[in-house]
Amino acid sequence: MDEARARGRRVGFVPTMGALHEGHLTLAREARARVGDHGLVAVSIFVNPTQFGPNEDFSKYPRELERDVARCATAGVDVVFAPDAASMYPAGERTRVTVRALSEPLCGPFRPGHFEGVATIVTKLFALAGRSVAVFGRKDYQQWRILSRLAEDLMLPVEVVGVRTVREKDGLAMSSRNRYLSDEDRQRASAIPKALGDAARAWERGERDASALREGAEAKLRAVADSIDYVDVRDPSSLEPYAGGDRALLAVALRVGNTRLIDNVVLGEEPAPA
Ligand code: PAJ
Repeated sequence: MDEARARGRRVGFVPTMGALHEGHLTLAREARARVGDHGLVAVSIFVNPTQFGPNEDFSKYPRELERDVARCATAGVDVVFAPDAASMYPAGERTRVTVRALSEPLCGPFRPGHFEGVATIVTKLFALAGRSVAVFGRKDYQQWRILSRLAEDLMLPVEVVGVRTVREKDGLAMSSRNRYLSDEDRQRASAIPKALGDAARAWERGERDASALREGAEAKLRAVADSIDYVDVRDPSSLEPYAGGDRALLAVALRVGNTRLIDNVVLGEEPAPA
């Protein structure tokens, strides 16, 4: 990467955990658009152990490196970086990175340590990537806000960019975890983008009451979810509870079958997801 930069090439960087789908490839294409034909686009693939809780799916997270490398090639990626755990977490390592406040709401309480794991690995990856534009998905909206803040606070030479959620035909956000859904689960999951879409339409009609927006979405999700972690309306920048303003983040996390799904829409900014 240093060599490429020395020859005047800009670097675009897309961190992932692999099992790549069209959402990831859209990030790679955005990176390409940002750095130009002459630039270098790198994708990292690393299933990061420190961001998984003890009861989460680390060991069964899909790993398919060969197929991922082939998919990267179709998206014009120049470099795939797939380190092993011992090189990212060598014996004796002790450092963790915490982004305060932004890690606390939404997924924070339901995934203790998750965002610390994410912030730590991404700090390491940013250190390796050097001066670059790093592209993330807004599907993981809280993660994107945390990592933007992290790059700024640690004065890293990385510009963090967020790309809109890429969805299936019925609006379901693409995710490596969707493959865990049975046909019946998949059917039920399609209610998620519909509930977000209904809220977007209510917002369009002038609804600004956070409780009404939240309760409307929650009622629809209750009908299909096996459990709900949260349905929340927040300020899209600070992630503080929404207290008025021309945009609001409606974010949800729930379980369908054994699969935990997250989704969100920025009301007043994005079109209805379904
Ligand atoms: P992963 O879940 O593999 O996602 C990699 C990137 O792809 C993230 O920025 C995520 O937001 C984005 N992405 C996933 N599905 C998307 C979709 N449907 N539309 C748009 N973007 C989508 O997120 C992680 O990995 C990890 O936490 C990581 C940042 C790599 C740190 O380990």
